[in-house]
Amino acid sequence: MLRGCDDHRVTRTADGPADVHSIRRVADEAELRAVFAFLAPLFAADVGGDGDFRLERLLERFNDDQALMLVAVDADEAFRGAALGFRDGPSGVKLQALAVDPAHRRRGIASRLLGDFEQVATGLGGSSIFLGIERAARAFYEANGYSGRGTVLRKSLTGRALAESPSTRQDRLAALRAARARRLATPVSESEPLNRDR
Ligand SMILES: CC(C)(COP(=O)(O)OP(=O)(O)OC[C@H]1O[C@@H](n2cnc3c(N)ncnc32)[C@H](O)[C@@H]1OP(=O)(O)O)[C@@H](O)C(=O)NCCC(=O)NCCS
Repeated sequence: MLRGCDDHRVTRTADGPADVHSIRRVADEAELRAVFAFLAPLFAADVGGDGDFRLERLLERFNDDQALMLVAVDADEAFRGAALGFRDGPSGVKLQALAVDPAHRRRGIASRLLGDFEQVATGLGGSSIFLGIERAARAFYEANGYSGRGTVLRKSLTGRALAESPSTRQDRLAALRAARARRLATPVSESEPLNRDR
């Protein structure tokens, strides 16, 4: 079972890239709205549409799951990136959005945000993190230990192998059923040519 959020404060001074001073919790709902306004265009540009990236859901969960809403800032408190999530299910944690300012990518900022997010999720008793991805970010998540065949990627926080998610299993079974139905619908003349010499 996941624990309460209050005892997991993240305010870390950066020891990595010079362009991030610290990774800390989003301070309050007003800052969450500002962080969302910073992230939304990055998603629109790279991922397209707004996908599962909804401010309302984050605001709903803010009081309970503020510890899972992290922002990376520079020395002047300008946003460089953010990782926003919440607890979902008995021991799961959803990472709803993670993005970094395009001018500061490939410097490890998202990896550090994700590492801190995983640390908080583990501290809260989470056993896995899951997220929906679009095309762009798969390489990043795979480089950080996430896996999955469809558009849902997961990572175990306990070191145990993760069972296939119900939705992935359903998608796979539906694809197998559709392939079988197509085979059955194929006329015999197309799949097994008759011997015309007889
Ligand atoms: C995906 C994203 C968050 C990565 O941020 P970042 O700070 O540049 O990531 P990191 O520097 O920590 O990258 C770590 C590793 O991930 C992989 N990686 C990151 N971005 C990659 C890319 N565009 N293509 C291929 N591999 C990539 C690399 O292995 C990289 O290590 P390297 O730079 O030493 O090769 C960032 O590109 C982004 O904000 N994209 C737009 C929003 C988005 O797609 N979010 C995720 C959707 S859920």
